[in-house]
Amino acid sequence: MPLIHRPKLKATNFHGMVARSPQMERLFVQLGRAANSDINVLLRGESGTGKDLAAQALHAAGARAQHPFRAVNCASFGSELLASELFGHVKGAFTGAVRSRDGLMLQAHQGTLFLDEVAEIPLDVQGRLLRVLQDRRFFPVGGSREVSVDLRIVSATNSSLRELVAAKRFREDLMYRLRVVVVRLPALRERDGDLELLTWTLIDKLNRMGGRQVLSLSQETWRAMQIYSWPGNIRELDNVLQSAFVLGEGQTLTLDELSPELRGEGPEVYSGSPEAVPETVDLAALERTQLVQAWQEHGGRRGAMAEALGVSRSTLYRKLKEHSLI
Ligand SMILES: Nc1ncnc2c1ncn2[C@@H]1O[C@H](COP(=O)(O)OP(=O)(O)OP(=O)(O)O)[C@@H](O)[C@H]1O
Ligand SMILES: [Mg+2]
Repeated sequence: MPLIHRPKLKATNFHGMVARSPQMERLFVQLGRAANSDINVLLRGESGTGKDLAAQALHAAGARAQHPFRAVNCASFGSELLASELFGHVKGAFTGAVRSRDGLMLQAHQGTLFLDEVAEIPLDVQGRLLRVLQDRRFFPVGGSREVSVDLRIVSATNSSLRELVAAKRFREDLMYRLRVVVVRLPALRERDGDLELLTWTLIDKLNRMGGRQVLSLSQETWRAMQIYSWPGNIRELDNVLQSAFVLGEGQTLTLDELSPELRGEGPEVYSGSPEAVPETVDLAALERTQLVQAWQEHGGRRGAMAEALGVSRSTLYRKLKEHSLI
């Protein structure tokens, strides 16, 4: 069985973000420019594309790098707790507030505050946040004395703020304050050459942990990784490799050590109660899964694949192109 060994690859490292694709090189230029200014940046991108990492990179590459970086996941608190997390509270502000506490705004003074999953901020907290962005001042929860802060705000979302504004779930004025600059992180499948680089970078990291030492990939493993769409992006790649390191053995990473989706077995077939039926079916994803499955079954032979899928060879060719499988 032919093996693939670690290639020598030239890479760029932008404050912990590793890449070699032109798409990411362009992104690093954008991030560098945004970092040099003090404007608020909104990071967009699918899950696992590196929004957290990009927020930290923006901080590290900018003039505020010597000051604190604080992050909050806006989806993990209810509105009262989020307000107290952000703005702090005074003693006795609510049951359990036995002493006063600084919020993240104050902790991040002169530095960067990262609002992750910003689309989830409850409407009442949105109003208070807008005030900080406009006047750089806020009242701690239960407090009567205003506090001033100097902050750069970086936020991230994988849903469209515009759509939320249209649905009246997000304040339009706040949206404009947060998205002075929008930086979109490309999906892993859109980055030419990064899958290979990140695979080996992550394998190196796992090898350094001292357990299993992986020195090569079987050709079919690499093939499966290349044709997979990686909906969970770099986080998914990291998880897949970690799991293969734990469950498998030997110096070669083999196909059976990969997760079922990667082996072309597709998502589990739905067989539950009607309430659980997904509202929308992602036809493109389904089509891709079928193509990947046929590819695995027929070892990439076009004639056999076309026959199995019941389409002409030219349609198959077009579909493979459409899904970036060839
Ligand atoms: N360019 C990169 N180089 C190296 N590691 C990366 C890169 N991008 C992402 N990672 C790693 O992938 C994982 C996911 O990245 P991160 O948490 O920043 O994604 P995210 O976009 O914030 O995801 P989510 O939307 O789920 O919050 C992390 O472990 C991160 O270190
Ligand atoms: Mg994140």
